[in-house]
Amino acid sequence: MAEKILILGATGYIGKYITKASIALGYPTFVFVRSSSSQDKAKAEFLDSIKASGATILHGSLEDYASLLAAIKQVDIVISAVGPAQIHDQYKVIEAIKEAGTVKRFLPSEFGNNPAVAKKIHPALQGMFGLKLQLRKTIEEAGIPHTYVSTNSFAGYFLANLAQPGQFSPPRDKVTIWGDGNTKLVIVEEGDIGTYTIKSAVDPRTLNQVVYFRPPANIVSQNEIVELWEKKIGKTLEKSYVPEEAILKTIEETPFPNNLFSAITHCIFVQGDQYGFDVEYDTAKLYPDVKYTTVDEYLSRLV
Ligand SMILES: NC(=O)c1ccc[n+]([C@@H]2O[C@H](COP(=O)([O-])OP(=O)(O)OC[C@H]3O[C@@H](n4cnc5c(N)ncnc54)[C@H](OP(=O)(O)O)[C@@H]3O)[C@@H](O)[C@H]2O)c1
Repeated sequence: MAEKILILGATGYIGKYITKASIALGYPTFVFVRSSSSQDKAKAEFLDSIKASGATILHGSLEDYASLLAAIKQVDIVISAVGPAQIHDQYKVIEAIKEAGTVKRFLPSEFGNNPAVAKKIHPALQGMFGLKLQLRKTIEEAGIPHTYVSTNSFAGYFLANLAQPGQFSPPRDKVTIWGDGNTKLVIVEEGDIGTYTIKSAVDPRTLNQVVYFRPPANIVSQNEIVELWEKKIGKTLEKSYVPEEAILKTIEETPFPNNLFSAITHCIFVQGDQYGFDVEYDTAKLYPDVKYTTVDEYLSRLV
């Protein structure tokens, strides 16, 4: 019988895609949501649509341990897609999983670079990457079966705007290039993140492993992305290059949390924490049949 999957943070940016994928792939899908979520029109519509597709809505909050435990007791797999502000709250999820004693797999909210292979974790990122690593330690010490998903860069965050902070569409005149622009990163479209996450969550091969999301056509440098975009719009953009020292200076001089974007930019575009090392569990090899969205296709939609 198909595993029952619970998604925490289902109404969040990436949680919505994971929830839709869980339903589309035929798993009995449960979502744990705060009652207040329904006050947001878009979230209420999303919840109505997934309910109509067969999902079970469980009301509760991370602050209400009894509601969390009751939700976790109903399922086989727990996927946490809670946001950066709730990473620490996942200690309560770990407690509830321990108490329930029935969960076959837990996927904590990672959804980015694998912090365990970061060349360096800047102090600005300790509250995110450092904390995610501490959570892993607690999960492993508790003997909780798990899978960590290293999804790399969300397309909506890093491709839709060619990695230009504060922009929501690709630039047509000028572009900022981080470092020399040649570092390879990995871009993954959000619907594909949903699909790969669910496949990784139920796959016996990925138990207690880190799964890397690396669609082969989406391993690109910022220069390659910009070149592709220039071809599509038939125009050469004016480029300004920001050297590593300038990015580091911005991180130092900008108060936390406003320096997070620069710190993440540094680890993806300069440090190169997403590519250039061998991995054992790669979605490209594990799930070659998934028809993913390529960087080229994604940019074509934006022309
Ligand atoms: N790789 C990348 O490019 C990238 C980009 C962004 C984020 N990320 C990572 O992706 C993960 C998810 O982030 P996100 O931005 O998708 O999250 P998000 O949009 O901030 O969503 C947070 C979710 O958590 C829920 N939540 C908040 N407080 C809660 C509480 N007390 N009890 C129960 N639920 C609560 C929210 O529900 P409500 O609807 O009730 O508010 C919402 O569904 C994080 O680990 C983040 O670091 C990666």
